[in-house]
Amino acid sequence: MIIWERQHAGNHYQVRTAGASIRLYRNQVFHSQYHGGRLLNGGVWDMLWLPLFFRQPDKPLRVLVLGVGAGAAIKKISDYVPSANITGVDIDKIHLYVARRFVGLDRRRVRLIHADAIDWLQNYNGPSFDLIIDDLFFEHEGEPCRAIAFAANKGRWFRRIKACLTPNGLLIANCVSSREARSLVSGALCSLPSAFSSGYTLREPNYENIICIASRRPLTLADWRDHLASALGQGASPVLSPTQKFRRLA
Ligand SMILES: C[S@@+](CC[C@H](N)C(=O)[O-])C[C@H]1O[C@@H](n2cnc3c(N)ncnc32)[C@H](O)[C@@H]1O
Repeated sequence: MIIWERQHAGNHYQVRTAGASIRLYRNQVFHSQYHGGRLLNGGVWDMLWLPLFFRQPDKPLRVLVLGVGAGAAIKKISDYVPSANITGVDIDKIHLYVARRFVGLDRRRVRLIHADAIDWLQNYNGPSFDLIIDDLFFEHEGEPCRAIAFAANKGRWFRRIKACLTPNGLLIANCVSSREARSLVSGALCSLPSAFSSGYTLREPNYENIICIASRRPLTLADWRDHLASALGQGASPVLSPTQKFRRLA
């Protein structure tokens, strides 16, 4: 059901409900899904935030989300990881409005910045982040496309993200093709100096998306399961569906 609609600057926006979920569409392309009544949003919007449990979430965690959309991933982090200090950047001020109004991102917990995230990160000189989620997408001919390829400008984007992470920092990136994922992973694991030493992908066969996770510190699935269980009081199996699979890359 459509509950809100707007035309702005040549774009068409819709907020719809599907059962208890809130969905954001721009130009008919599905950008976000948020379910407030349970732990999981469903699909790719969980695969974006659940890998943060590779880190111990009881320590203060500085989180940067590039691509806020309706704030589905940010809201779950803010609800389930009280130690998180979250900054979200999005180029679309209507999306930021939807995230505040319909998903209820709290101003005290989440700082939202209206900017082109590529320029913003190039110019950023504040404290490093423990976690950066790169989910920058726009739509082209009705399909979602990454706003910037990891291989662009000889890997400059990738190096910039790495420079803004703490030494133990974690990168979670949403890729829509195996080519993009391979390019990220080979950049992450092979680029010197201080290449990342550990990486996983997370996939759900019903979605095209491949979520890539990379870190300089070794990551283990045993840690992920332990941190998840202590933070959420849940084991891994009800959280990830049996079809969602982590694959170790290094
Ligand atoms: C798939 S949506 C993000 C969904 C979101 N992570 C969530 O959990 O709901 C992609 C977002 O990237 C934003 N975006 C695309 N290019 C951008 C850019 N250059 N700078 C900032 N935001 C950008 C779009 O406006 C859109 O809101």
